[in-house]
Amino acid sequence: MIDLVIFGATGDLTRRKLLPALYQLEAAQKLPEGLRIIGVGRKLVEPGLFREQARESLEKFEGKIDPGVWDRLSGRIGYEASDYSVESLRAMSHRLAPSVLFYLALPPDVFPTVAANLGQAGLSKENGGFRRLVIEKPFGHDLASALELQNQLLQHWSESQILRIDHYLGKETVQNVLVFRFANAWLEPLWNNLHIAQVQITVAEEIGVEGRGEFYDKVGAVRDIVQNHMMQLLTLSALEPPPKIEADLLHNEKVKVLRSIRPLSRENLVQGQYVGYLEEAGLEFSSTETFAALKLYLDNWRWKGVPFYLRTGKKLARKHTEVALQFKGPPQRLFEDTDCNPEPGWLVLEVQPQEGMHIDVEVKTPGLQLSSRRTSLRASYRSKGLGELSAYATLILDALNGDRSLFLRFDEVEWAWRVLEPVLRPVDPPELYAPGSIGPNNQFSLLEDGHRWRKLG
Ligand code: BG6
Repeated sequence: MIDLVIFGATGDLTRRKLLPALYQLEAAQKLPEGLRIIGVGRKLVEPGLFREQARESLEKFEGKIDPGVWDRLSGRIGYEASDYSVESLRAMSHRLAPSVLFYLALPPDVFPTVAANLGQAGLSKENGGFRRLVIEKPFGHDLASALELQNQLLQHWSESQILRIDHYLGKETVQNVLVFRFANAWLEPLWNNLHIAQVQITVAEEIGVEGRGEFYDKVGAVRDIVQNHMMQLLTLSALEPPPKIEADLLHNEKVKVLRSIRPLSRENLVQGQYVGYLEEAGLEFSSTETFAALKLYLDNWRWKGVPFYLRTGKKLARKHTEVALQFKGPPQRLFEDTDCNPEPGWLVLEVQPQEGMHIDVEVKTPGLQLSSRRTSLRASYRSKGLGELSAYATLILDALNGDRSLFLRFDEVEWAWRVLEPVLRPVDPPELYAPGSIGPNNQFSLLEDGHRWRKLG
């Protein structure tokens, strides 16, 4: 028997992401037999009412609900009110199954207290089953606070019990970076500084801060996206093949990439803020960046000398996430280019909203002349009939099964902070950019060797 205990069960994360994910898993018949889902929150809510509210959230965030699937799911769902104190958690303890996954869907500032109270209530001790703790980013605000959080957690939990979520790792197209790289042996000889001129990683969003202004203003784009989601895209794109796809072996390789990043200085970062951010976030003044672009170098055998350009921003022209590698050009141009586009081609892994990959190639232009033109070899990620589970569904299932590959080991978090520490307090105020644009002009100052930013989508 396993219990999934969700703390913060009446909150936004549960309603928007966790309940839909559990519904999808129920529909796909992937939930373990006998699994109970126990929502816990401060509010006193009758379990029946909680189930009714859960159903309303599902209708809102998941769409049409199959009555049979809902019946099965609601049969698992219970609710308990708790103030997360040691006494109240201890009172809950004797009703729990031997194996429990505690999901802290709570504000990060209460993680240490709740994790400690669980420990003091005896709920972190494994006795004939597992006890695991799921937490979500942000893991600290900088290196010092991340280390402090880790020390607090380790007082009652061991590293192997803690599952740190970065929801990008639950996205199939992010996992595909590994599969695409290492299941196609012909790519390997090309995937290095002999053939690749530059790498660009983009996480562009169309939305603004959307009612999260108070949270976002303390964070900004570097902490919100670069430190976690972009570092994951970077490490997966750059790492060496692990001997096996096993959590620790994979984490080792990711950490090696982070440790090879050349120390950053302020010239490596530019930042911007979209016009209208202050009004949207309800602020009079703020120097928080809603756009950040960085240039990184990995000082290792494979990538020495190849710039990795990273950029992310809110209120940009469109939502678009991709990892793109540009090949070096041929040593000699033998054919005239009818597209007049001498830029060497790209290999692009599209993460979202398009899910696919393409490689630019030069081919003969039809006609008598022996000249070339640019075209693309394209593949879509999804095939008809292959079902889709959300990132959270994948991650919840892995957490229940104890597969840690898609969760972050602490040293990954630590090294991502170590890399960014020198640029966390930028000196210049961010440059303003128009909503719906490609971001501030200062991003072009990062580019070298005639490199150009790719179009957004
Ligand atoms: C979250 C950030 O981690 O990721 C948000 O806090 C951001 O600011 C979101 O909007 C983007 O996620 P996705 O899955 O829409 O790319």
